[in-house]
Amino acid sequence: MMFFKISPFSRPCSARHAFGGLLACGFTLLSLGCGAGPPAEFKFRATTEDLISDAKKSVKATLNDSFGTPNDLVAWERLPVAYGGINGTVESVTDDKSIVVKLDEEAGKIKHGTGVVWLTGGLSGEKSKPSHVAIFQNETSQLQLVNKGESPAAGDRFILGFGEQLQLGRHVYMKNCMHCHGVTGDGAGPTGEFLNPRPRDYRNGQFKFTSTRAGEKANRDDLHRIVAYGIPGTYMPSFLLLGDKETKAVIEYVRWLAIRGEFEKRLTAELSSDYSEKSIADSTAKANTAYAEKQKNKEEAERPPSLNKAIKTANGEFAKFAKEELPAVIEETVDILAQAWTRAEEADSIIVPTVQRVEDTVASRERGRLLYMSDKTKCYTCHGETGRGDGGATEDFWPKPGSTEKYANRGLHDEWGNQLKPRNLTLGQYRGGRRPVDLFRRMYAGIKGTPMPAFGGTALKDEEIWDLVNFVMSLPYSRPPSPAAPGGNMAKLDEKPAH
Ligand code: HEC
Ligand code: HEC
Repeated sequence: MMFFKISPFSRPCSARHAFGGLLACGFTLLSLGCGAGPPAEFKFRATTEDLISDAKKSVKATLNDSFGTPNDLVAWERLPVAYGGINGTVESVTDDKSIVVKLDEEAGKIKHGTGVVWLTGGLSGEKSKPSHVAIFQNETSQLQLVNKGESPAAGDRFILGFGEQLQLGRHVYMKNCMHCHGVTGDGAGPTGEFLNPRPRDYRNGQFKFTSTRAGEKANRDDLHRIVAYGIPGTYMPSFLLLGDKETKAVIEYVRWLAIRGEFEKRLTAELSSDYSEKSIADSTAKANTAYAEKQKNKEEAERPPSLNKAIKTANGEFAKFAKEELPAVIEETVDILAQAWTRAEEADSIIVPTVQRVEDTVASRERGRLLYMSDKTKCYTCHGETGRGDGGATEDFWPKPGSTEKYANRGLHDEWGNQLKPRNLTLGQYRGGRRPVDLFRRMYAGIKGTPMPAFGGTALKDEEIWDLVNFVMSLPYSRPPSPAAPGGNMAKLDEKPAH
């Protein structure tokens, strides 16, 4: 049997990252007592591994300091992750150093050794260490600390059991998700590579099936729907049997992994152009070609430095960059991520149709069909004139995003580079949920990270999207289903089909 004991140790806020000089104020959530757990490590991106040595060291150190390792998690307070724990206030301190506290929520049994992180008062601050619970009595709200020398004052704020939710999330994840999604959340778990579609690689911070507007992150409810119900037609199973607490915890852990992954991605992207082995090799090769050209023309030219020398110089320049600019890059990156994930939870980010669902009539379906076949939407180019997901676009060679280079295979790809097919709409199987509002949102904001475009707000009015929803939902029931047939077999349906 395994058990996890959580004892958070606060890290001094003045801790400086190896090179970055970042003000990191996080807490290590140390898990003890689980014997020799599986050797779990976070992997780094290939683009990180390709950085020149000093830049690579710096990125890895920054990540390790800010997120820790799977067996030694760090809670970075800047991130909008519910790490868990119960906040409370000291009401009074009695003579024998027993403290009466008021907890913000009801607590279950609080075990001996549970960490107490001080948020305010004399025990808080830069150099503070967390205290630990000796005894907590629920009935009287009396708390005794292990070290009686530590005495807080009335009014001091604290968190009991800080990080418990993330720890539980890690535990649930390693047991249920890791074998597909990988320890790092890179979608490359031991069984992941055999699956089609591949398990999501969380490290782009991108999820496909959300209720949020185009460009916005997934919110907790979206992740809850995915974890609870799975993704029909894929290997992503339903985890309805997980308890409520476990489900909530694993969602925080997935968000945390996604933030970690995107943080690494953005940081590395910032450094790659100047400090990757590849970019330096490219510019050295270019300089050599230019040099050879000049020599051929008997022009005066200075021999460019060797690759080794160029890398050495770049490492030297990096030291300066790390000191003068990197801290600001890290700050900016964490700000962008914190804001994006926070914004996704706000009501404004959720797509709410401005008009009620248009009545599902033959006329509405026909309007939807015409839109489907129109140049305004071009639905048919992907989903096909038959609706079976076999449109002309699936025969083309498509360029990779942000480049003119094309994929080696015909057909569509998602931003992770996986080939994918437009959905066969005649089957009535929807990955992002089958309620009309789910389909509305799918068309409004597209399927994120895939070529399925967003039509809401710009290309189509909300009424038109409802017409398309009515049309798409009718496809599995029209025989033979064929958007291309004008008026077609659809007219034979009842005016108001029962739902
Ligand atoms: C048997 C393999 C498997 C297991 C186990 C598994 N997943 Fe998945 N998961 C997938 C696949 C495959 C997809 C991608 C489906 C797609 O692209 O439509 C996916 C996608 C996801 C997504 C992305 C949803 C989106 O909108 O982009 C989330 C979040 C997710 N899984 C969470 C979890 C969590 C949490 C667990 C464990 C509790 C878990 N998965 C276990 C295979 C798995
Ligand atoms: C450029 C190609 C493209 C166009 C244009 C396009 N789609 Fe898609 N669509 C896709 C792809 C690809 C998927 C599957 C993405 C995935 O699951 O990863 C998809 C999925 C869907 C789904 C399935 C949603 C779910 O939850 O499973 C629906 C419904 C849909 N499209 C409707 C439409 C409609 C209606 C239009 C026109 C208004 C349209 N699509 C235009 C490519 C396209």
